[in-house]
Amino acid sequence: MKALIPAAGMGTRFLPATKALPKEMLPVVDRPAIQYVVEEGLASGADEVVVINSRDKKAIEEHFAPAPALVAALRDKGKHDYADAVEHAGSLNVSYVYQDEPLGLGHAVRCAHEKTGGEAFFVLLGDVLVPKNNLLPRMMEISAAHAGASVIAVLPVPPEEVSRFGVIAGTAITEDVWKVEALVEKPPREEAPSNLTVFGRYLLSPRVMELLAQGRPGVGGEIQLTDALDAVLREEEMFALVIKPTDGFDTGTVESWLETNKALFQGRIDRRP
Ligand code: UTP
Repeated sequence: MKALIPAAGMGTRFLPATKALPKEMLPVVDRPAIQYVVEEGLASGADEVVVINSRDKKAIEEHFAPAPALVAALRDKGKHDYADAVEHAGSLNVSYVYQDEPLGLGHAVRCAHEKTGGEAFFVLLGDVLVPKNNLLPRMMEISAAHAGASVIAVLPVPPEEVSRFGVIAGTAITEDVWKVEALVEKPPREEAPSNLTVFGRYLLSPRVMELLAQGRPGVGGEIQLTDALDAVLREEEMFALVIKPTDGFDTGTVESWLETNKALFQGRIDRRP
């Protein structure tokens, strides 16, 4: 199974920081956000991690390329921990496809259709971190228990925040699994069917890729992943894994990025002997 990481967006909400630096390259504690995501994809047992990149974002590819001269210079100075960290980043096995224009998340995923070869696939948003790498294995279990159905991660949020997110309607079937009946994009608080918001980790059936191919631009001229998920719900079952706030961290806005840095840095301090 392939793990697709869309990272070709414009990062508008982070300008001017993202004028020359991709949003996914902003540091979270000691490494760029996207390194956590690539590591999670590799840890999930995906046979290939594919970053959907923009041709302008050279920094992402440079980060995952080997840097033997830098490693040697660090080792000469006895800085072996840093040399190991640089060597590790350059050893992560990543491939790339390109989205030539940022026409939406659905369009970005569609750009990797030749990679998925008619199989189910993961989508891992490049600006959402799951440092414990614990969600994808659980999502695979749920999918396997339901004949290969699509599974999406959802995060409970306070009711006053639902209007900022995609929200699911459905029914709980176990403590942490819901059967999804509909997806509602940014509902007003009083119309929200639940407080479970779509959170950046998806295990999708091959049918979703087919539907994306047929997708027409919707809101803002973009091809949305939510529209394809909505369409697949009319044909196939879909399930949601309800995650805990400590499972996932958003870095897509200045505020959430600062909060994520604080939480993960604190976690490192707490683990110190
Ligand atoms: P976001 O909407 O959070 O990223 O998409 P963005 O579009 O860069 O942010 P703003 O709205 O301009 O501030 C979630 C992920 O999907 C990727 C982004 O790079 C991000 O990692 N994405 C989004 C694409 O790859 N292509 C797109 O056309 C849109």
